[in-house]
Amino acid sequence: MDPLFSVAGKVALVTGGTSGIGTMIARGFVRRGMRTYITSRNAGQAAAMAAELAAEGTCIGLAADFSREDAPALLAAQLGEREERLDVLVNNAGANEVAQIETATADGWDMVMDVNLRAAFFLSQQMLPLLRAAATAEDPARIINLGSIGGLHIPNWEAYAYGASKAALHHLTRALCKRLGRDQPTFPK
Ligand SMILES: NC(=O)c1ccc[n+]([C@@H]2O[C@H](COP(=O)([O-])OP(=O)(O)OC[C@H]3O[C@@H](n4cnc5c(N)ncnc54)[C@H](OP(=O)(O)O)[C@@H]3O)[C@@H](O)[C@H]2O)c1
Repeated sequence: MDPLFSVAGKVALVTGGTSGIGTMIARGFVRRGMRTYITSRNAGQAAAMAAELAAEGTCIGLAADFSREDAPALLAAQLGEREERLDVLVNNAGANEVAQIETATADGWDMVMDVNLRAAFFLSQQMLPLLRAAATAEDPARIINLGSIGGLHIPNWEAYAYGASKAALHHLTRALCKRLGRDQPTFPK
């Protein structure tokens, strides 16, 4: 199946690739021959995980703290120094704060919203030139957003900001799809 579904030679960025689902996604990309970038708030942790994943291919760690407003632009600049195109952006980095309604804080709310929602939008914005440089009519570039069951249906724990951020991310994904799909000649209007 390799020739049919090959991603070898493509470039991917997986935010928050130092643990959990992000590491799994990055490992899969690396194994299939993608030059894969991962991020962490901690440059040392990003480098350490990248070194582990690079045992099976190419993986590079970059530092980014998405609670900071300038992180998407800084990360885009870092990647732009190394790559001329980006085939796949995975907005995976996520934060949670479980806080009861009586004690939830504005700082916790803002942190979760900033990492889960603001960063996904502005990183997509900042990466557009590299994504557009990779895209062809036959093989568009991709943005993958990690949503959550916590943003659907009936919430089952007190994670107000998390659930709201993921529900918003689901809708943001539809909005991005509507606009960026227009870049793709075969996309249904
Ligand atoms: N696990 C689940 O059951 C589940 C279910 C539904 C959806 N999700 C979503 O899937 C994604 C991954 O989940 P996971 O469980 O694999 O998470 P995880 O193991 O907690 O990993 C989260 C990643 O996000 C990064 N991160 C956290 N805060 C950050 C910040 N301020 N700036 C930059 N990076 C930050 C962490 O990097 P550092 O700590 O190295 O900085 C880490 O690599 C998240 O978006 C999550 O909401 C997870």
